[in-house]
Amino acid sequence: MQIDVFTLFPEAFDWFVSQRHVANALALGHELHRVNYRDHTPLSGRQVDDTPFGGGAGMVLRVDVVEAALRARYDTDPVLLPSQRRVIALDPGGRLLDDALVDELAAQPALTLLSGRYEGFDERIVEHFATDRVSIGRYVLAGGELAAMVVCDAVLRKQPGALGDERSAREESFSAALEGGPEYPHYTRPADHRGWRVPEVLLSGHHARIAEWRLAQSRARAAGAKAPDTLAAPARAPRAPTSRT
Ligand code: 6GU
Repeated sequence: MQIDVFTLFPEAFDWFVSQRHVANALALGHELHRVNYRDHTPLSGRQVDDTPFGGGAGMVLRVDVVEAALRARYDTDPVLLPSQRRVIALDPGGRLLDDALVDELAAQPALTLLSGRYEGFDERIVEHFATDRVSIGRYVLAGGELAAMVVCDAVLRKQPGALGDERSAREESFSAALEGGPEYPHYTRPADHRGWRVPEVLLSGHHARIAEWRLAQSRARAAGAKAPDTLAAPARAPRAPTSRT
């Protein structure tokens, strides 16, 4: 897939693109382009934002600036873009990103992510150029860059081959394989650390029982309860970390 991120801070993505699963996705032919609004602004002094009509705090990203950046990238009137590709305005008030939305976006051949800064976008940007408003949670970040990285991360790791092991993406938290529930607990060596023993079923080599145990653990976590250990008879049940106050 081809992802274009429009931002005032393209360098903020340097670390992100160096991550293994992102680098893997790019090596597989997926693309991640960054476009700096400032490189295309028709205004003098590389201006991109302005004070809000009606007054109020902060600065608003200008519609003419975003239009110029989109035109430069796609060589078309950006009002035509929504019929050609998903154009996502990152907006704290938008549709909450969840696994279902990630699946939907991951299936797209092309995505455009618009990051805002300051108080946000001139509303006409979202109204005329975007197909979606997406939020990563009900809190406000100083800008859309982290949110754009969250979207890119979640979408790229769903691409076949981006993760070392395809099972990681299939059977993970919130996936259909786990009935939309959270992931089961994981353990590795040592099997016993200070008497904290790994559940015996995981050491049994009995794949069907392990799968059953994992699904039961996921269901129990979904129910907000501590997992019952009805399927195994471990020396000691796994214990959820408790908060100390
Ligand atoms: Cl998409 N943008 C900003 N600025 N803050 C957010 C967000 C997006 N999602 C949650 N908080």
